[in-house]
Amino acid sequence: GLRKKEVNVLCLGLDNSGKTTIINQLKPANTQAQDIVPTIGFNIEKFKTSSLSFTVFDMSGQGKYRSLWEHYYKDSHAIIFVIDSGDKLRMVVAKEELDTLLKHEDICNKKIPVLFFANKMDLQDAMSSNKITQALSLESIQDKPWHICASNAIKGEGLQEGLDWLQGKHT
Ligand code: GTP
Ligand code: MG
Repeated sequence: GLRKKEVNVLCLGLDNSGKTTIINQLKPANTQAQDIVPTIGFNIEKFKTSSLSFTVFDMSGQGKYRSLWEHYYKDSHAIIFVIDSGDKLRMVVAKEELDTLLKHEDICNKKIPVLFFANKMDLQDAMSSNKITQALSLESIQDKPWHICASNAIKGEGLQEGLDWLQGKHT
C-alpha cells in the first residue's frame, strides 16, 4: 500500500509534567516501558497510526537540558507541549518556556500545530484546561492551530482525543 506520511513531533514541557508517560501510552502495548524514569537529554520514539508514521522527540524538561530543545525546532512538523496541571507554582515557568518557544526564529513563522496536554487532571488540586488556557495566554496564539486536552497519562485518558486532533492537521 501507500507509504505512511511521516510526521516529526517534538514533545516539550517542564520536567515531571508527564511527557514520557504520555509518549509511552501512545506506543503499541508490547513496546511500552514498564517503569519510566526522568529523561536524560532526549529519547526518540516511533509509532504508527492507521494513516501516519510518527517520530517523537521526547525531550527532557529539566532546566539543564532545555537548551537542547531549539536544535529540533527546524525539523518538527508538530509540537506537543505538556503541562502538569497540579504544578501551580511552576505555571509561570511553563509560560516562560512556551513564550520563548513561540518567539524562536525557527518556530514563529511556521504554522505548525501545537497540542497542549493539561496533564495530571486526576490530581485533587489540578487546574482545569480553561484555567491553564488563561494562565498560559493560549488565546493569544494567532498564527498556529492549537488545541488543549485534559489528560491523565497514567490511565491514558484524553490522549487519543489529542492525537486525533493532531492527525487531522496532517492527513
Ligand atoms: P522529564 O523527562 O524529567 O522532563 O519528565 P517527563 O515530563 O517526561 O515526566 P514523566 O513522564 O517522567 O512523569 C513524571 C511523573 O509524573 C512520573 O512519576 C509519572 O508517573 C507521573 N505522571 C505522569 N502523568 C501523570 C498523570 O496524568 N497523573 C499523575 N497523577 N501522575 C502522572
Ligand atoms: Mg521524560
